[in-house]
Amino acid sequence: MTTATNVSLKSFNTFGIDAKAASFCNITSVETLQNVLKTRPSRPLFILGGGSNMLLTKDIEALVLHINLKGIDIVSETEHTVIVKAMAGENWHDFVLWCLQHNYGGIENLSLIPGNIGTAPIQNIGAYGVELKDTFVRCEAIHIKNQSLRLFSKTDCNFGYRESVFKQDLRDQYIITSVYLELTKVNHTLHTDYGVIKNELADRGIETPTIKDVSNAVIAIRQSKLPDPKEIGNSGSFFKNPVISIEGFHKLEQNFPDVPSYKISEALVKVPAGWLIEKAGFKGKRFKDYGVHHKQALVLVNYGDATGKQILELAQLIQTTVKRLFNISIETEVNII
Ligand code: EPU
Repeated sequence: MTTATNVSLKSFNTFGIDAKAASFCNITSVETLQNVLKTRPSRPLFILGGGSNMLLTKDIEALVLHINLKGIDIVSETEHTVIVKAMAGENWHDFVLWCLQHNYGGIENLSLIPGNIGTAPIQNIGAYGVELKDTFVRCEAIHIKNQSLRLFSKTDCNFGYRESVFKQDLRDQYIITSVYLELTKVNHTLHTDYGVIKNELADRGIETPTIKDVSNAVIAIRQSKLPDPKEIGNSGSFFKNPVISIEGFHKLEQNFPDVPSYKISEALVKVPAGWLIEKAGFKGKRFKDYGVHHKQALVLVNYGDATGKQILELAQLIQTTVKRLFNISIETEVNII
C-alpha cells in the first residue's frame, strides 16, 4: 500500500472541483483497508467512493481512502432470481449494464446514475419509481474503529427517501465494501408508470418493453435533462425535494395554482425543488464558471474552474430565496465537505 501526497481530487469528484488531498491512499482489497485502518496514525479519515455526491469546498487534510474495490460475482441463484455481489468500487452504471447483458432485472430504472456501488446504499439512490432498497439484500461494511466486518440486512439499513442508517445513526462509522442485490432472471417486474418513461417508450413504438428497452428509455430521458459529469461538472440533484404539510401546500397552491406535487400521505405532500428554484428565477443562470443547469433547475453545475465555495454560496442564495418566496426550506442532497 502506498500513500501519495498533494493529490488533486479533480478527477475523483463528478463536480470536477480541484481540491487537494494532503495524502491519498488507493484501496484495492478489503485486507488492505483493514490494515490501513488498524495502523493509521490518529489523523482523521476521508472516505472517497465515486465522488458523485459531494461538493468539496476546501482542501482535504485528512487521509483520503479511495475505495477502489472491484469485482462482481453471482452468489446464488434459483430458476427465477439471482443474488449478485458487487464490490464497492465498481461503477454503478457499468454494473447496471452488466446486469442487462445477463438479462438480470430490477435496477434498469436506475441506469446512468453517477457514482459507485458502495455509495448507492448510503443515500438509497432512486429514480423513476425505483430505489436501491427494492432489490437490496444486504451489504458488508468494515467498522472504522475496530476493523470488524459487519453484515447489514435491509432492515438494518433503515432506508428512506435518499436516506439510510449510514447517513444517520452510523454516520462516519462504517465503510461499505460490497453490496448484494436480488435480481430477476425471468418475469421481470417493469416500472414504467412514470409519465416520462411511458411517453419515451411510446415515442419509440415499444408496446411490450424489455428491461433493456426501459434502460434505454431512462438513459435517453436522463441525457436529455441532466448534464453528463464528464462534460459539465455536477452532482445530480443538489437539493432534496421538500416534504411539506397539506395545509402549507394549500396556501402555496392559492398563490401558485400550477405548483406540481406528489402526495406522500394524508398529511404530507412532496413538492419538486426544481420547480421552486425555476420559479425563483435561477434556472439556466450562469455566474462566471458555475450556475444552475438550463434544463433541470435542481442541478448546480461547474462549467470548468469553479471552486466549491462559489457553488456553495450559490446554493445558499437559492435556499434563502426559496425560503423568502415560498416559506419552504430546501435541504441539500449533496454532502458539503
Ligand atoms: N421541475 C421544474 N423545473 C425544473 C425541474 C423540475 O418545474 O427545472 C418540476 C416539473 O414539474 C417536473 C417535476 O419538477 O415535472 C419533477 O421533475 P423530475 O421528474 O425531473 O424529477 P425531480 O423531482 O426533479 C427526482 C430525483 C432525480 C431523479 C428524478 C426522476 C430527487 C432529489 N431527485 O428529480 O434524482 O432522477 O426524480 O425520478 O429526488 C439525483 O438524485 O441526482 C437525481 C437526478
